[in-house]
Parts: sequence; C-alpha cells; structure tokens
Amino acid sequence: MNNEVEIFKNVEGIADYFAKMIIYREATSKNNFVSIALSGGNTPKKIFERISEKFSEDINWKRIRIFWGDERCVPPESSESNFGMANETLLSKINIPLENIYRIQGEKLPSNEADKYSELIKELLPINNGFPQFDIVMLGLGDDGHTVSIFPSSIGLFYSSKICEVTKHPETGQNRITITGNVINNAFLKVFIATGNSKAERVKEVISTADKSKGYPASLVDSDFGKVYWLIDEEAASKL
Ligand code: 6PG
Repeated sequence: MNNEVEIFKNVEGIADYFAKMIIYREATSKNNFVSIALSGGNTPKKIFERISEKFSEDINWKRIRIFWGDERCVPPESSESNFGMANETLLSKINIPLENIYRIQGEKLPSNEADKYSELIKELLPINNGFPQFDIVMLGLGDDGHTVSIFPSSIGLFYSSKICEVTKHPETGQNRITITGNVINNAFLKVFIATGNSKAERVKEVISTADKSKGYPASLVDSDFGKVYWLIDEEAASKL
C-alpha cells in the first residue's frame, strides 16, 4: 500500500492541508459535484473549526456534497452525533446549500437507514468499479485500529458487498451505520487524519507494517485505486 504520509507540527497544519486538498479537488473535478464523506469522533472537531474560520470563502461549497462515512444511531442533537459535531463546528458556519448535506439519520431504525443511505449514495455518486465513488473519504483511526465504524470484531464487514452496514461499538454496544470497505477503497482520495501520542503505536503498525494479519480494519484501506494519505501530527508520527 503506497501511503502518502504528511507530518505536521499541529492540527492547524493538518486542517490547512486538508482544506487545500478539497479546494484542488473541486477546482479540477469535471463532475457537477465533489462528494466528501466526513469522519466522526473527536479528531475532526479542530479540523472543521479551522476550515470554517480560515477557508469558508475559499471553498466553492455549492459544488461540494457532504456525506458521512459513519454515524452513531442517535438523534442529530445528541452529543454523540457525527452530523451534530460537523454541523456545530463547520456546516452551520459556511455558505453550503442545505440540500448538499446528506446526513445519516441516526434516529431511524438502523437497518432501514443503512439501506436508505446506501440507495442515496448509489443515486448521487458516480458508479465506477461496481461501487459508488467518493472524491474524498475522510478517515479516523481508532485505538483498536478501527476506521469508520468497522471494528476488529466485525472486520468481515469491510468486504461486504453492501454499500452501508449496521455495526455495533464493541464496548458500548451502540449501533452504528457505516460505509463499507469496497466503497472506501473506491474513493479517489482516502485521507486518514490522526493526532496525539495515543495514536502513535497504531499509526506505526498500520502504516509501516501494512501487516493485514493484525486484524486492523484501517489496514485494509488500500490504494489499489486512488491514493491513501495520512495527515498526522508529530506526536502521532513519533513511532514511525
Ligand atoms: C466515529 C468515527 C471513528 C473515529 C475513530 C477515531 O464515529 O467515532 O468515525 O472511526 O474516526 O474512532 O476517533 P477520535 O478522533 O475520537 O480518536
């Protein structure tokens, strides 16, 4: 797997680089829209805040469609909601048409919503290599090597033939809806973002060993098509 690893002093540097990736993608895409799947959790918060502060006028949001790589099965106003976090830190602060925002409806019955979101993605995205194709999929890295909401205990879902699956967080039992590995790997740009010392060991294992036998779903993200980027800070890179 040829990863492009970019190391930054701080999260602002990561955010600026990621924003410029979006700007470049939008400027060069021949499609009517650039489709981006956002990740959730804590890491993206500072990224989104920085982008809303510094790049709100630099990105042509009218051509950007926002999706999610995964969502917790909670209402949008829940502090757990990935949509809620992105809305608070970015979407409510930029001039993006509301019709360009396609949230996973975490408040709905998970199995029904997973099917509905799969159909939505299929309808709105170009289909290449037999799967919907995102321009950019933003990815986080869990301490257990999970990404989106594909956990080691359900790593088989990475290669599901479905576009979205329902999973459960292994500790909390919280239902999640997640896009699957074939959709992730079909994206032009797979952009992992990781910061902090707590990620250093896993970042090293996933990037340098590329040893799929460790059972980390993040290790299955590949660049057979498109590119895999790692945007990490010096702490997360400290064991490379
Ligand atoms: C989620 C995410 C998940 C996240 C990782 C890292 O819904 O939680 O999509 O895959 O990216 O767990 O989370 P942190 O950024 O909070 O470390």
